[in-house]
Amino acid sequence: MHEITPGRRRGLFFVVAVCVVFMQAGLWAARRQAQTNFPDNNLVSSGKKLISFMDQDTRPKLKEHPIPQLMAEAESKFRNLLARQSKTLELAVQEYKRRYDRDPPRGFDHWWQFARDNGVLIKDDYDAIAEDLAPFWKLPSDEVRRRAEVAGSLPSIDLIRVRSGNATAINMRTGLPEVSARARGFLSMLEKFQDKLPDVDFPINSMAEGRILVPWEQNVQPNTTDSLSSQLSGVNTPDWRGEGNVWEAYRRTCPPDSAARRLYTSFRSSSTSQRPISPTEDRSYDFSFPSDVNGNFSFCDHPWAHYNQGHFFSDWRTISVLFPVFSPAKASGYFDIRIPSHYYYAQTRRYTYGWDPVNLELKATDHMETPWEFKSDKVFWRGASTGGGSSPPGFTPGYQRHRFVRMASDESKSNRTVVFADPPGSNNYVYTQVPTASLNEEMMDVAFVKVVDSANYPGGIGALIRDHRFDDGGVNLGDHWRHKYLVDIDGMGYSGRFFSFLESDSAVMKATVYREFFEEWIQPWLHYIPLSMSYREIYNIHSFFSGATRSTLLAANSTALSLSPARRRPVDGDRRLRRIARAGKQWKRTLGRRVDMEAYVYRLVLEYVRVSSEDRDKWTFVL
Ligand SMILES: *[C@@H]1O[C@H](CO)[C@@H](O)[C@H](O)[C@H]1NC(C)=O
Ligand SMILES: *[C@@H]1O[C@H](CO)[C@@H](O)[C@H](O)[C@H]1NC(C)=O
Ligand SMILES: *[C@@H]1O[C@H](CO)[C@@H](O)[C@H](O)[C@H]1NC(C)=O
Ligand SMILES: *[C@@H]1O[C@H](CO)[C@@H](O)[C@H](O)[C@H]1NC(C)=O
Ligand SMILES: *[C@@H]1O[C@H](CO)[C@@H](O)[C@H](O)[C@H]1NC(C)=O
Repeated sequence: MHEITPGRRRGLFFVVAVCVVFMQAGLWAARRQAQTNFPDNNLVSSGKKLISFMDQDTRPKLKEHPIPQLMAEAESKFRNLLARQSKTLELAVQEYKRRYDRDPPRGFDHWWQFARDNGVLIKDDYDAIAEDLAPFWKLPSDEVRRRAEVAGSLPSIDLIRVRSGNATAINMRTGLPEVSARARGFLSMLEKFQDKLPDVDFPINSMAEGRILVPWEQNVQPNTTDSLSSQLSGVNTPDWRGEGNVWEAYRRTCPPDSAARRLYTSFRSSSTSQRPISPTEDRSYDFSFPSDVNGNFSFCDHPWAHYNQGHFFSDWRTISVLFPVFSPAKASGYFDIRIPSHYYYAQTRRYTYGWDPVNLELKATDHMETPWEFKSDKVFWRGASTGGGSSPPGFTPGYQRHRFVRMASDESKSNRTVVFADPPGSNNYVYTQVPTASLNEEMMDVAFVKVVDSANYPGGIGALIRDHRFDDGGVNLGDHWRHKYLVDIDGMGYSGRFFSFLESDSAVMKATVYREFFEEWIQPWLHYIPLSMSYREIYNIHSFFSGATRSTLLAANSTALSLSPARRRPVDGDRRLRRIARAGKQWKRTLGRRVDMEAYVYRLVLEYVRVSSEDRDKWTFVL
């Protein structure tokens, strides 16, 4: 059902917002170099192959498609990851010292036992923990404890408190044990080893968004003599209330010489007449495949890109003090400490593959799973029109979901460049201009199913509905399994559906700006297909795996048009896509299990206990 709240008058805001966009655009036109460095163009950033469509005549002749190469590299990287894990506690201790240049934390032997008993495959690759806790090593341990206590009383933060080996949840603001689902999830992840922990407090973020953005100068040289209360002005209100916004706070985390920090100082000298070509418009991105999702994308170096991501417009106030706050995901630049999401850990109808909500049991195969042969070849996505708050308002059309829905239902006269082997199976690669509208018709099944935050869309709900495809049917998790390609995109925060998508028999395409606990364990192009922030390459991904569509063959006047549709398919494209679907499922069942999340949390809390303990240097495990 659509909310029928009448759109509030945001006209003036929008005009202002648009002006800001154009002024910044002008700046960027002056820095064309920055665009060519845009790292979501893997072929550019890795310096491997640059295929430019801007100059058709100097285009190199393509001898092989880049995707098989990306898949082969991914497979060998993952094989290597599994093969190199320590086989004994002694070796694990050695490897730990090699990586982090210190002894493992006290309790490491118990953790090892836990990991071994539960068949946890990853024994060494926990660099995410070291990275997240590194800033806290720069503070004295009593300061870490003090900050945990203060953080536990901030809005939208719950406390998980361990006392005498018993973990409980508490909301310090109300004094009640009623806490967020995220805190409850973390509590259940501790259950099996809480009795092994000393007294300790974990402040848990109850929001999906990252919270901690420490200004660059503060991080380089933490000032602990500065009273916390002087830095805390404002954080006792949960939202911005017009004083500042996420991007303002984010920019301050960037190095002083970065583009994001320079933006305003170089403002006056800029020309405002020209708009830059953004990756969403630049045709060279049609055939550029990133080697990873964009969790490490630098918004400090590419400030204009923040207009494409809703989380920079979140209503929720960020905190500019280095508090130890545990969050399910963070964009690069944030200082939250990552923990597994409760959506992945809990078992629910909306987020768990194979969950039988009637008998409350987990089935190996979801009751709505569909045999591969019967899955549609379309790219499927459904979701709500969320993506950010509206601080400041007026930028909703640029949010990641809105952009994707509009791109996938674009009926304009524009073309996309599709590269395909003609005839199928050959290595005669043809570059063809194909009408976007036809490609969308043939490949895409993408729509919003729920109107959220329409009042902040420029023009209100009418404009939102006019500009985007809406499917009134609603959608269950199981409806996804009827399609071979599932797209996973961020909402207000990270996407909680990712693990269920992986576990299904469909292949996942993922775009995200978030970094999560499992980033070192999973391999893009093996377990899922990474998508750039512009999504532009999606038409060429589909063409590679499922074969050039009829409209592509028509545009190229291909002789393959006379073949039957089955024979037009590339010989092993569909088989490769199915292999990604299977690898994703296998990953979820061997590295993405609940007990793998527990092992991660177990090791994280040992490290956190040490960094906040009085005798840090003695809080070690030595063989
Ligand atoms: C842990 O604490 C809770 C709340 O105080 C209490 O209900 C529970 O019985 C305790 N469990 C153990 C094992 O002590
Ligand atoms: C640290 O904070 C104190 C109190 O606000 C201030 O007097 C001092 O100059 C600060 N030190 C640095 C290095 O910024
Ligand atoms: C992401 O960035 C962090 C911090 O700069 C780095 O430690 C990590 O290796 C990067 N990860 C990837 C996949 O590039
Ligand atoms: C699309 O490509 C066709 C050739 O396939 C060309 O005739 C047409 O002008 C192009 N349209 C646009 C808007 O570029
Ligand atoms: C398409 O190909 C056929 C033969 O394969 C040729 O006769 C015809 O002229 C081509 N049409 C165009 C528009 O190139």
